[in-house]
Amino acid sequence: MFHAMIMAGGGGTRFWPRSRNARPKQFLSFAGDRTLLQSTADRIAAVIPPERTWVITGAAYTSESAEQLPEVPQDHVVGEPFRRDTAPCVALGAALIAKDDPDATIIVMPADHLIEPQAEFHRAALAAEQFANEFPDALFTFGIPPTFPSTGYGYIHRGEPAGERNGVKVSRVREFKEKPTADVAEQFVASGNYEWNSGIFVWKAKTILKQIQANRPDIHDACVRIAAAWDTPNRDEVFRKEYEAIKGISIDFAVMESAPLRMVLRAPYKWDDVGSWLALERHNPQDAGGNTVQGRHVGIDTKGCVIAVEPGHLIATLGVSDLVIIQAGDATLVARKQDEGRVKEIVDRLKQGG
Ligand code: GDD
Ligand code: MG
Repeated sequence: MFHAMIMAGGGGTRFWPRSRNARPKQFLSFAGDRTLLQSTADRIAAVIPPERTWVITGAAYTSESAEQLPEVPQDHVVGEPFRRDTAPCVALGAALIAKDDPDATIIVMPADHLIEPQAEFHRAALAAEQFANEFPDALFTFGIPPTFPSTGYGYIHRGEPAGERNGVKVSRVREFKEKPTADVAEQFVASGNYEWNSGIFVWKAKTILKQIQANRPDIHDACVRIAAAWDTPNRDEVFRKEYEAIKGISIDFAVMESAPLRMVLRAPYKWDDVGSWLALERHNPQDAGGNTVQGRHVGIDTKGCVIAVEPGHLIATLGVSDLVIIQAGDATLVARKQDEGRVKEIVDRLKQGG
């Protein structure tokens, strides 16, 4: 059967001040009212029922994740006691799912981006499931045409075509390079042969477990031991002990760069990484002045601003344009749109004591 696993345990500083107080990006809303975590769950709900959906997050985020996703069974919201990056998270999810369904196919979804339109995503997910049954030893990714030489993504070199399902084409992967240097990223984009890895994967549980075992037997064995203890009174103790000892690594570096059989589907959907507050502008309607507003705002002679205020607050602007204004609790960010990529500098300054 087809199962879903949402990875939602990353950190995040680019969304200050909303990301303060242990509220990483997945709990924030960028399109309408739904948070990124909720949008991720919504996206797959038409294909996979919540009973076969899992969320793997940090122990500090389990209650918020479960509250945001009441339809997902509580025991499918797993809180890792330590952050160990995505390879252990993937291994643990696969080991838990395979306990009840040894032939399971899994779609692994990060909770940090937006996808439109939903129907195209469903088409792609179902095509990948069919391909996974046809090529059970392969690891599947979804490729996105790159628009700039980002050093923050994985790059996929597409090889020979291997078929088509639901109008979605799949090809073999020649090379997978995670987070290349700026020079290499530039060459990749200029060559026209590379796509970005959108971070979504489809594979058989047993196939990914075998590949993790081949590359990082320690991670594989630890996660298998955790899954074995899952329904016993020792679960928490084993989980802590095993996870603490793991040296963290992402699934991209641990497995995707070197696995023997990898395939890439051309993603038929639009993908947005929601890298900064300007994503609000891309995913919400604008008012008459071209402002994007979440919350209560009174603006006079205000143009092209991106404004987000929490319920119970009012923001008033007069004679300003192209600002980003974000309020959260007792902190407010005011920045020119063009400088907004530098928000991390504020976080760093605050860490040094302001
Ligand atoms: N449970 C759990 N535990 N989740 C985690 C952990 C962890 O330790 N670390 C990260 N995550 C979650 C993040 O919250 C995010 O939803 C997802 O896993 C991916 O992790 P990122 O840390 O955001 O990865 P990335 O953006 O640097 O790179 C990945 O995504 C890119 C596309 O956005 C890679 O797959 C790249 O190849 C890809 O291009
Ligand atoms: Mg990411």
